[in-house]
Amino acid sequence: MAEEQGTRDALDDFRSNFDVLTEDRRANPRSDIATTRANGQVGGCPMAGHERLSYYVIVAAAGHDATAASIGGGLQGLLEFPDGMAKLRGNLGLLGTAAEEFVRWTAPVKHFMRTPHKPVEWRGTTIPAGDAIMLAFASACRDEAVFEEPDRPRVDRSPNPHLTFGIGPHFCLGKYLAKMDIEAFYRELLPSTISRADCPSAVRCGGAAVPCSPAGSPR
Ligand code: HEM
Repeated sequence: MAEEQGTRDALDDFRSNFDVLTEDRRANPRSDIATTRANGQVGGCPMAGHERLSYYVIVAAAGHDATAASIGGGLQGLLEFPDGMAKLRGNLGLLGTAAEEFVRWTAPVKHFMRTPHKPVEWRGTTIPAGDAIMLAFASACRDEAVFEEPDRPRVDRSPNPHLTFGIGPHFCLGKYLAKMDIEAFYRELLPSTISRADCPSAVRCGGAAVPCSPAGSPR
């Protein structure tokens, strides 16, 4: 109950903030996404308040947890498969393919739902109109018919036809921002840490990588 109230309070806060933003962008339009939302029309009529709020909320709230989970998941992958860690440390030029692979391997968005408006044939099965269909992204991203060694995060995997960001008209709006964040994190982290194997035993305290000074010796 307290949790539900917390969610309602958070949405009310969102609403108040975005109402102020809407008023401002109607009075002072500029070239930004808030102006598009504030003045958006559906069928020639201003967008309904709850629709506008939903659009604001999705842009403000979408993706930060998925991006953080991909960063953490990628690190887990590098620690579980140290050959990948060594390869990436040795060539930061692989950060682009590595970021893509961390997202595939982690698959932080587990599922979305779809509802067909008409019957759909899929591999010999008819899905009736109105049925609920779960898009299981995590399963698609480890499909052994598509990916060689699907359970291994390969920092140089290419091509990488994963579906973690969805597919079709609702394809993730934030994909390039998420990839930029992931790459930026590892571009900072990897040169400022050393591998556990290179550490004196005195600093081996459970982690696989420890911070090191610019000179390279553990802090
Ligand atoms: C690793 C990070 C991310 C993952 C795995 C991810 C995943 C997804 C997926 C699977 C969808 C499609 C949903 C569907 O098909 O119905 C989606 C849509 C969307 N994502 Fe992301 N996302 C990430 C980061 C972000 C970021 C950083 C932002 C924005 C700051 C963002 C904004 C959106 C928006 C606005 C949509 C809805 C697009 C539409 O319906 O037209 N995402 N995302």
